[in-house]
Amino acid sequence: MNNYINMLTVKKTIYCALCCMLCLNLSNAQGNKLKVVDLKCEYATNPIGLDIQSPRLNWRIESGQRGIIQSSYQIIVSNSMEKLSQDTADVWDSGKIKASNSTGIFYNGRELSSRQRFFWKVRIWTNNNHVSEWSEPAFFETGLLNKEDWISDWITYVPGIPGRVLYFKATFNKEKPVKQARAYISGLGFYEMQINKRKVGDQFLEPAQSTYRKRIYYSTYDITDYLSEDSNVVLVSVAPGWYGIPSLWLQIEVTYLDGSVRWITSNDMRHVTTGPVIYSTIFDGESYDARLAVPDLYKPGVPSGLMNKDWAWAHNTDDPGDNLISQIVEPIKVVDTIVPTIITEPAPGIYVVDAGRNLAGWAALKVTGKEGTKISLKFAEFCYENGLVNQENLRNAKAEDTYILNGKGVETWHPSFTYHGFRYIQVEGFPYRPQSGDITVHVVRSAVAHTGKFTCSNKLLNNIHQMIVNTESSNLHSVPTDCPQRDERMGWLNDLTVRIEQAIYNFDMSRFYPKFIDDVEDTQDEDGSITCVAPFRFGMRPADPVSASYLLLAWKCYEFYGDERIIREHYAGMKAWVDFLNSRTENGIVNYSYYGDWCPPEAFGEPSHTAISKYTPGKMISTGYLFYCSKIISKMAQIIGNPKDEEYYKHLAENISKAFNNAYWDEQAGGYASNNQASNSFALYMGLVDENNIPRVVTNLFEDVKKHDYHLTTGNLCTKYLMEILTEYGYAEAAYKIATQTTYPGWGYMLANGATTLWERWEYATGDAMNSHNHPMMGSVDSWFYKYVLGIKPELDYPGFQKFIIRPFIIKELDFAEGELNTVKGLIKTAWKKQGNILTIDVTVPDNTTAKIFVPAKNMKNITESGKKIGKAIGVVFLHEENGLAVLEVGSGNYHFKTEI
Ligand code: BGC
Repeated sequence: MNNYINMLTVKKTIYCALCCMLCLNLSNAQGNKLKVVDLKCEYATNPIGLDIQSPRLNWRIESGQRGIIQSSYQIIVSNSMEKLSQDTADVWDSGKIKASNSTGIFYNGRELSSRQRFFWKVRIWTNNNHVSEWSEPAFFETGLLNKEDWISDWITYVPGIPGRVLYFKATFNKEKPVKQARAYISGLGFYEMQINKRKVGDQFLEPAQSTYRKRIYYSTYDITDYLSEDSNVVLVSVAPGWYGIPSLWLQIEVTYLDGSVRWITSNDMRHVTTGPVIYSTIFDGESYDARLAVPDLYKPGVPSGLMNKDWAWAHNTDDPGDNLISQIVEPIKVVDTIVPTIITEPAPGIYVVDAGRNLAGWAALKVTGKEGTKISLKFAEFCYENGLVNQENLRNAKAEDTYILNGKGVETWHPSFTYHGFRYIQVEGFPYRPQSGDITVHVVRSAVAHTGKFTCSNKLLNNIHQMIVNTESSNLHSVPTDCPQRDERMGWLNDLTVRIEQAIYNFDMSRFYPKFIDDVEDTQDEDGSITCVAPFRFGMRPADPVSASYLLLAWKCYEFYGDERIIREHYAGMKAWVDFLNSRTENGIVNYSYYGDWCPPEAFGEPSHTAISKYTPGKMISTGYLFYCSKIISKMAQIIGNPKDEEYYKHLAENISKAFNNAYWDEQAGGYASNNQASNSFALYMGLVDENNIPRVVTNLFEDVKKHDYHLTTGNLCTKYLMEILTEYGYAEAAYKIATQTTYPGWGYMLANGATTLWERWEYATGDAMNSHNHPMMGSVDSWFYKYVLGIKPELDYPGFQKFIIRPFIIKELDFAEGELNTVKGLIKTAWKKQGNILTIDVTVPDNTTAKIFVPAKNMKNITESGKKIGKAIGVVFLHEENGLAVLEVGSGNYHFKTEI
């Protein structure tokens, strides 16, 4: 009997195994190329130190096939790799969920415990009934989730001089073999941790800036590999940074192989001293005395007792803020290295190094010389005629680093707690003429990934694009700064209103912007007011009403990354800001403005302050933004399911629109305010123009552009609206002419005058005023390249690129344009090319998305895709014809369209 049962079991097992193999083979045969890749948690790859209970998960699909849409997915989460590889979902099994969404999926398993790694994978089913293999595994690790996890205190040592860097030290013995170790750390203003003389991580200027009393970021490091010694030395140097008094908070958790845990906290780090970084401030620079990098600093223990003259005893301090948050935004890193080759000697022994372009970062030295030799490095954006650097426009920032040699062979150094905006470095005190490689330049910024590419047949546009990418890249330092060089470097919200898109097309801002909107919200008062810059260190409260960037941060993250949580989390704050602006209206007109359409060409500015527009009323701009924000918040209310607010703000927008038109519409002229470029393009962009009046306003706008010989007269904000509105209303060629001007004012003019990054003013100016030469606020033309020349646009109603638009404007003077955008769904590519009257358009549409493609054609019937007439081409659906364009819908895949124009 037993044998019989055994036989049966064996047969059953073989049968099952065969079935499984068959199934697998089938699914392999069908979906062999179908892959789930690029798993992310909270928009990061394998993050550690997460401090949220419901992290969100994303993935992408790769099939290499046309028309693939995810129909269902399954996620499993385990608490070990072994279990995950056996498909044992002991933490969460989502089950098979019918949904096409592959971004922002909330983890919904059992409650997450602190300081634990969770492994996960995904498989998907598609609209053509294929099932993928399980993805490669990914993980996320939690940080400190519960009150009990916080066992450390803040420590500091107050006596000292401003700008002094403090070194906190602990030595601990490894008692048993180590399984793993984590450091949870924050140090204000900036910290750097070394273990056994080795820098932990490759990030700088940590933590990310914030309003410290409201939130402070801590980071989590896997330091298992650092504990190489029996007696391990932890040394944390802390610079004043934006905080002022170097203060440290730290918890190290060492887990031994036997499961026991040892904690080292700031309380164990009370030995404090000064060290080789003798001085460091953000504006003025850093001084390093290599003679002070004494062995005692790095050796276990402190030399002789506690309170000797070299070592002091750090004490506790009031918490700078009691809200420690795990840092998820990308840290600041060295993202590029330049080896300058042009080194001049404008005066004996004074050398000037040219980095080749303007940037944000620092210089790294390699030098040999006598002990005590002092080298100074002065940073600047330009030089005087005599070849020496001109630092006038840095205002109060000294921007100078110094290094004192210890004389022990080849010495290398770069600063750690400061950075500069510069192209030129004046080197003094170098013991000999520096050779190429003795001074290298490090480009330093928040390490957000590049996502976009743009090129076309006109080199000038390519150079403008590069200039703007350089500028954005110089101004991402955990906040989107206005400039990297002078005594400012603030997150100005007015500039950001038009900057958001130029950055989001070029960089992955999916973590950066949610971090920055927190900074904005941290400035908010009970009356709903926010401040001009965030964190609030400069400017005014309340912020200028042009700070629609507050809402746009959330709006664009929703549109580009499918991030709905950001809307929910910040809805109350954003609404309070709209209400605040509304409370500042008189007869529907917002009653204040500071900047308005800031920095138009000088002749269009007020004589008393040329940065303020003479012809574009500030209050008109303020009111227009109240209208714009009311519309956005109404749509946000709809998204989060709040019909009452949706209606209320829709109504508010209507009222503001009426007031706006009463106050600024000039019936006789057929335009707004002074009927200038800024006022008319602004009103059109915001949607404030009565439909019947649109043709007149557009004509007037175009006439004004013509009158100025296709030059703009706009400031930071309305330049964006001018370019987009001209294009949208049939004047793409005029917008192109503006973009390609090489005479004043324009981007080509900047390039013609040697710019490698954007200027703050349309004029070339170098004196001690508002003359930054690395200022992103004038760069919105770059989003015009992506949105109109390449034609890549997300569809707001299908956030996260579930659906998007490809509508290139085929500019007469251009022979081709091509580019790409790496989205949360995958890579979108577009390339168009003219040959005689034949136009080809190549488009790559990522899996799990649908694109609407606008193809211009003389004759709709002659359009082909990969040689086949539309209608015969697989996966191409002709939707309708619109003003000489065929509107087609396609799913994932590569498409090659050919058409006669
Ligand atoms: C900043 C600008 C900002 C302006 C507003 C300047 O100092 O650099 O970018 O728009 O202030 O007043």
